[in-house]
Amino acid sequence: SDQINIAIDGPAGAGKSTVARMVAGHLGYVYIDTGAMYRAVTLSAQRLSITAEQDARLSDLLPALRIRLEPGERGQSIFVNDEDVTGLIRSREVTRQVSYFAASGVVREVLSTMQRELALQKGVVMDGRDIGTHVLPDAELKIFLTASVQERALRRFKELPSDQGVSLEQLEGEIAERDRLDEQRDISPLIQARDAIELDSSDMSIDEVVAAIVKLSRTKL
Ligand code: C5P
Repeated sequence: SDQINIAIDGPAGAGKSTVARMVAGHLGYVYIDTGAMYRAVTLSAQRLSITAEQDARLSDLLPALRIRLEPGERGQSIFVNDEDVTGLIRSREVTRQVSYFAASGVVREVLSTMQRELALQKGVVMDGRDIGTHVLPDAELKIFLTASVQERALRRFKELPSDQGVSLEQLEGEIAERDRLDEQRDISPLIQARDAIELDSSDMSIDEVVAAIVKLSRTKL
């Protein structure tokens, strides 16, 4: 075939979404941000005071959520039942709780099924935590994108509006905690797939990372 699927996994703040979006742009592929889908479920549950442990309530909620991804101004817009929640899912409240919802088997089952369907036609660049290991184990190219926790926290810190009242140390702590939860959960934990290529972006520019992945993708065609 003339198109492949590319999986980009790694810890929080490694630059996956920026890189994945740019790679998709270069190749004329579709970019899919699976983290945004976990965040959208988290936001929807929080609004109804549903916790990550309430399987029955989550099982009722999930089929009622129509999650739609669309190309937007800042990469990708995400809609839940036609409400644009692109900004809302980036709140600290969602960020702090998303890993608990992402540990729920009920949630993972529904979202990974949706993600597989989105990739059926190929030509997809999908970023997340379990894409290479679980969602798309047959992806032709798998990248595991990392960077030191200090570097990742610093990047996030620079992105934040200065009135957020959060310190670099706080951010570093929250990122490390999210990594720990994602790595230690029972279902589809964050782990490098055996056949993934590791790229440490600590000392690479975004353009360098993108160029490396685009070059690798050409070898798979
Ligand atoms: O990529 P992002 O940081 O927006 O992801 C938010 C959270 O969603 C992650 O910390 C993780 O808990 C969860 N996630 C996941 N599996 C994915 C993508 C995201 O568990 N494929």
